[in-house]
Amino acid sequence: MKYTSQVLLGVAPLAAAFPASVIQAVKNNPQLKARADHILQERQGSASAATLIFEPAPLFDAEQQYIDIGPGSGHEYVAPGPNDLRGPCPGLNAFANHGFLPHNGYATITQFIDATTQVVGMGVDLAGFLAVFGAVIDGDGTAWSIGGTPGPGVGGPLAGQGNGISGSHNKYESDASPCRPDLYETGNDYEAVASQFEQLINMSPNGEVTLESLTAFRSVRFDTQIKNNPYFFNGPFTGVQVQPAAYTFIYRFMANHSEDHPYGYLSYSTVATWFGMTGQPGSYVAQQGQEKIPDNWYKRANAYPYTIPYFEADLLNAAALYPKFLNIGGNLGKKDSFAGINAANLTGGVINSGDLAKGNNAACFAFQFAAQVKPDLALNLLTTLTNAIGKVTSQLACPQLQAIDDSQLMQFPGYKRSTQEGITK
Ligand code: HEM
Ligand SMILES: *[C@@H]1O[C@H](CO)[C@@H](O)[C@H](O)[C@H]1NC(C)=O
Ligand SMILES: *[C@@H]1O[C@H](CO)[C@@H](O)[C@H](O)[C@H]1NC(C)=O
Repeated sequence: MKYTSQVLLGVAPLAAAFPASVIQAVKNNPQLKARADHILQERQGSASAATLIFEPAPLFDAEQQYIDIGPGSGHEYVAPGPNDLRGPCPGLNAFANHGFLPHNGYATITQFIDATTQVVGMGVDLAGFLAVFGAVIDGDGTAWSIGGTPGPGVGGPLAGQGNGISGSHNKYESDASPCRPDLYETGNDYEAVASQFEQLINMSPNGEVTLESLTAFRSVRFDTQIKNNPYFFNGPFTGVQVQPAAYTFIYRFMANHSEDHPYGYLSYSTVATWFGMTGQPGSYVAQQGQEKIPDNWYKRANAYPYTIPYFEADLLNAAALYPKFLNIGGNLGKKDSFAGINAANLTGGVINSGDLAKGNNAACFAFQFAAQVKPDLALNLLTTLTNAIGKVTSQLACPQLQAIDDSQLMQFPGYKRSTQEGITK
């Protein structure tokens, strides 16, 4: 297989993370190679260009990939009750509604890793990082809430359990989300907004939501929030890493897989079910916290988990199409006043903004910034966090950054406000 496109050249080193045996098998099979070359050609310079690097041969195994939520499976949908925690993540809300996570919405690191790897095929590396990060910054060090601060009796006898991902603005939760509002524009960061979902559907032609349509939608959401939210903030970790995940996860984790669509097909009705939307294009209604896994749904191929290198390749392909995605900064307290900050100023010159689109720089920078985030609780977990981040940065062969100087971020009222409210540091 030849990786000819410019975009792919940027991520080619990541292909090394893929088992050489699989790539060899594709090279040796003329039929698979022809098919792969054809799709790759079609996808050159596109948001989904990484697919063929990380999924070189189309694979589908109905038995392995089927997720049984039918009667008797133990994973039937049960709507959340008034004391169940639900929040900004439709994937985790759906898992809790189907008993893949505890129904109360407070789960341990192990439970998050098991659910995300088994139900949607998240890579163990990505699942491990996301789960540990939640526990350290928004939980009690071992478990965390998928919504807001747990009430009495939820999650166990501990007095403090953190504020959950709904309470993690600028730490985990970001601006310009697909179908959630910006906290400082609307007053909440977790309710599903039907009009934003409608916009995604409108921007997705031919009955299908794709990585291309999601990336174009992200660009519109990004511009809309700069235009409307005086507090818009595109943070080094939340803007550069979490925001793209909120978009790519929609296709990579929610699409249905089949023999005909081994890379995934995401119809309007499948994405609506996952997002808890009832109705049809033009008349969607958001049913809060009622996200569901669709009936008769098949996850991604077991051999192709969505790993950190795969995700970073998607992130860079999106940034190649829309370089603004890597602009760290925010509005200056007025609508449409976006000012960017040079990454060199935050990293003592080790990485500058022009270099963020190269290799693993964006990831290296963002993950090391995340290492400085303040936990909700006074936990002595620095080692846990440092280890979780160290695993990722060594996997990505990151240059060693000294402590990141984030004082310049205080010029952005959207960041400053979250520090004053005690959310970030
Ligand atoms: C342990 C694993 C996970 C963690 C820690 C996590 C965390 C989060 C957080 C903090 C947000 C808010 C980001 C924002 O402000 O935009 C979010 C949003 C989102 N997550 Fe997850 N998530 C996880 C797994 C998943 C899975 C498995 C899926 C898909 C099945 C998923 C799909 C999404 C989507 C689509 C959004 C954007 C929602 C919207 O804007 O309406 N996540 N997640
Ligand atoms: C997934 O694809 C299979 C095979 O085409 C189909 O039978 C099933 O109904 C699809 N599931 C969804 C949720 O669309
Ligand atoms: C970088 O830092 C210098 C010196 O502190 C400052 O003059 C300059 O405005 C900063 N540039 C950016 C883009 O933040």
